[in-house]
Amino acid sequence: MPHLLRVVVLVGLLSLQQPSCSAATDTVSPGNGLAGSSSRLVSNNSKFTLGFFKPDITPFHHTTSNPNTYLGIWFSKVPKLTPLWSANGDSPVVDPAIPELAISGDGNLVILDQTTNSVIWSTRANPTTNATVAVLLNDGNLVLRSSVNSSDVFWQSFDYPTDTFFAGAKIGWDKATGLNRRLVSRKSLVDQRPGLYTLGFDRDDGIGRLVWNSTVEIVSAGKWNGQYFSLAPEMIGPVLPAFTFVNNDQEVYLTYTLRDETAMALTQLGVDGQAFVGVWMEELQDWLVHYRQPVHLCDTYATCGPFTVCDDTADPICGCMKGFSVSSSVDWELGDRRDGCVRNTPLDDVCGSGGGGSKTAAAPTDRFYAVQRVRLPHGAETVQATTSGDDCSQVCLGNCSCTAYSYGTGGCSVWHGKLTNVKQQQSDGSDDGNGEMLYVRLAAKDVPSAARKKKNSGISIGASAAVFGLMVLALMMMVWRRKGQWFSCSRTPGNARGGGIGVIAFRYADLQRATKNFSEKLGGGGFGSVFKGYLGDSFTMVAVKRLDGNHQGEKQFRAEVSSIGIIQHINLVKLIGFCCEGDKRLLVYEYMPKHSLDVLLFKKASSDTVLDWSLRYQIAVGVARGLAYLHTGCRDCIIHCDIKPENILLDAAFVPKIADFGMAKVLGREFSHAITTMRGTIGYLAPEWIGGEAVTSKVDVYSYGMVLFELISGRRNSSQVYLKDGDFSEFFPLKVARRLHQSGETIGSLVDENLHGEANLEEVERICKVACWCIQESELDRPAMAEVVQFLEGLSKVDMPPVPRLLNTIAGGSPAPVYYLDSGELVVSDKQSE
Ligand SMILES: *[C@@H]1O[C@H](CO)[C@@H](O)[C@H](O)[C@H]1NC(C)=O
Ligand SMILES: *[C@@H]1O[C@H](CO)[C@@H](O)[C@H](O)[C@H]1NC(C)=O
Ligand SMILES: *[C@@H]1O[C@H](CO)[C@@H](O)[C@H](O)[C@H]1NC(C)=O
Ligand SMILES: *[C@@H]1O[C@H](CO)[C@@H](O)[C@H](O)[C@H]1NC(C)=O
Ligand SMILES: *[C@@H]1O[C@H](CO)[C@@H](O)[C@H](O)[C@H]1NC(C)=O
Repeated sequence: MPHLLRVVVLVGLLSLQQPSCSAATDTVSPGNGLAGSSSRLVSNNSKFTLGFFKPDITPFHHTTSNPNTYLGIWFSKVPKLTPLWSANGDSPVVDPAIPELAISGDGNLVILDQTTNSVIWSTRANPTTNATVAVLLNDGNLVLRSSVNSSDVFWQSFDYPTDTFFAGAKIGWDKATGLNRRLVSRKSLVDQRPGLYTLGFDRDDGIGRLVWNSTVEIVSAGKWNGQYFSLAPEMIGPVLPAFTFVNNDQEVYLTYTLRDETAMALTQLGVDGQAFVGVWMEELQDWLVHYRQPVHLCDTYATCGPFTVCDDTADPICGCMKGFSVSSSVDWELGDRRDGCVRNTPLDDVCGSGGGGSKTAAAPTDRFYAVQRVRLPHGAETVQATTSGDDCSQVCLGNCSCTAYSYGTGGCSVWHGKLTNVKQQQSDGSDDGNGEMLYVRLAAKDVPSAARKKKNSGISIGASAAVFGLMVLALMMMVWRRKGQWFSCSRTPGNARGGGIGVIAFRYADLQRATKNFSEKLGGGGFGSVFKGYLGDSFTMVAVKRLDGNHQGEKQFRAEVSSIGIIQHINLVKLIGFCCEGDKRLLVYEYMPKHSLDVLLFKKASSDTVLDWSLRYQIAVGVARGLAYLHTGCRDCIIHCDIKPENILLDAAFVPKIADFGMAKVLGREFSHAITTMRGTIGYLAPEWIGGEAVTSKVDVYSYGMVLFELISGRRNSSQVYLKDGDFSEFFPLKVARRLHQSGETIGSLVDENLHGEANLEEVERICKVACWCIQESELDRPAMAEVVQFLEGLSKVDMPPVPRLLNTIAGGSPAPVYYLDSGELVVSDKQSE
């Protein structure tokens, strides 16, 4: 379960002691306090409530009930208690004390323990009069002011924010008084003490920063340019509220107003150090998270605590390093991982309790355990004059406080004490750099015996490209029997950075409701079924994909959520959100009223649904644009890997949208890493897949070419392949390629007969040529998608494509090849064997 989601869900589960019936008041005055844990103040507009609460998440966890009670503010209409502010995080009311909120003799607002009459918490202001009142205002601000003059304010909760940024409050400095208002995360989901993360502004440079333990900067928002912070352009989008930033002689602060006063927006710094903006959805009875920063939790400094490895693609994302165990599983469950993991076996005690570094004993028996491909821990110390990894390991062994070393391009680095902020880099190139090797010092006993790793034996077929191509065709023909079957895709792709466009985390129950218990089925796909649903106001139609509860479903789920959240284009279907609860995996997309291209092309229910030529052309151009964006337009290169009519959806105006990113691969910008594990659908697979060679975005070009042929013919290419006698001459792509070379022959006769000749022949010829270029055997001969767009838009002239060599060969242009299975391997011979 993605961690943020868990936090949001858990926050939602904090239970609230239901109010007893009492007349709502917004004021505490001398002699009229809030006595007992169930009395409360309600702001005059009824939006906010102040009262005592006891965080209790026992329904979800096995923790014993919490003995602590806090004074806090929450939204009156949000039934799931979500504390927005708490007064006494550092000094809770502990059972069996009975709290009372009152005005004390000196005019301060205090929490008293009724049983002992001692002060547990106080506003500790210096009111000029003891004739004061405390009022919960309509914006959620609790103010202590003079009872006769409401402008005379002595203290206000907006000056002491906890983890939530209220609309109308200021985050920043009062330069005159030195007051610094900043958000501080809570220690855990139940413990309201301050945590390690703070979000605030620098008094001097005015730059907003998310900081860990006052020392390590995690995210900087950059400079304010009048509209937004340079590094957070999403601030002006429609998703977030309207912000104002002020920086003058007296103060520097950020504030915001809600576009809709009645909206309940939650701008909070989570327990795990991730800031997020959510909105309460009455219809869903839950918080919907629209925005989060950092986008990936592992980019939040030390979110897993010391001696852990953070992996955004794992579940849970935090894991202990080898030789270490979770320090406190109860704390971890509550979101407090500051103690991370602890060593199973102490290091060799050569430095001795009394030894003080004396080297009387022999060299320590500690060993090093290699952790591969990680972002190295924070706080490295560079060691000069080391020439090898061995030297480096000796340096570390020679100092009792040294816990790890790494020897790489930067030479020798060692670490002392706790190892924090280690992150697993993804080997597929979705992370910057490929990570480094970290050698962690362990007691000899904890180092696993050096089991030799088996070498990866990838597919090694030492045959020519023609062989691979033949295999493609052989596989293509299996479509008849194995329609809709998928090749397994490789490991889950890594999360790509960037974006900042939030994807909503839904609860299962809400999607169940939205789809009327999955009653309106739109279709079935590779890994699950798709249902129609209605969100919120019932006007927003969505398509909810429920993935099968198996391994493939899980892979698709992770791939989709991690890759589509960062891409946005008119020709790509928009992922609105997802649900991940127990073994339930669902994806929520914008609804596409015209369904998918395969339905329109191949499953014509009646003659009136024939897709006319201009729409087909529009679809061809749109899909090309979408793919060009994926390959080159967004920050990282994304290979879709599964382009086929089923994955091309159409909106009301037949604008095509590429869907199903379940097999997509996000590659780094440099394109230095490519994939080798075959994925995709038979019939649309490029030949290079079969060889186990590294592939590039040209595999999408190939699949796209295959789809173009189907747009022209209105039939599946595969439906015209005849394995019998090796006769491929009727294979549509081959027919087209040959026809282009036969002068005098009209290309028009190749077009779907359902169009009754109503097609722009110039466009038909252009699209035929482009399609043939796209399915060239060598990826170098295929155009890039950006070029395809140019061709189709008529901006560049398309040359005559050669007949794809492979197709020609197979179809009997040369002696028919023989292919047979030899102990499970497909073998192809150019000559007839005797
Ligand atoms: C409280 O709200 C009511 C209207 O709902 C208004 O008439 C009244 O003046 C308000 N009281 C204060 C103290 O603002
Ligand atoms: C306010 O202070 C005066 C003396 O300064 C004291 O007599 C009075 O009792 C105080 N009022 C309250 C409500 O404690
Ligand atoms: C009320 O308090 C404000 C702020 O302290 C002050 O400026 C104002 O003069 C006071 N008004 C009266 C009527 O005392
Ligand atoms: C946070 O910093 C303080 C002092 O700067 C230090 O004592 C404390 O150990 C740090 N906390 C953690 C969890 O490292
Ligand atoms: C071990 O390393 C620490 C940190 O660099 C240093 O302060 C300490 O003096 C070293 N101890 C020995 C015995 O070299």
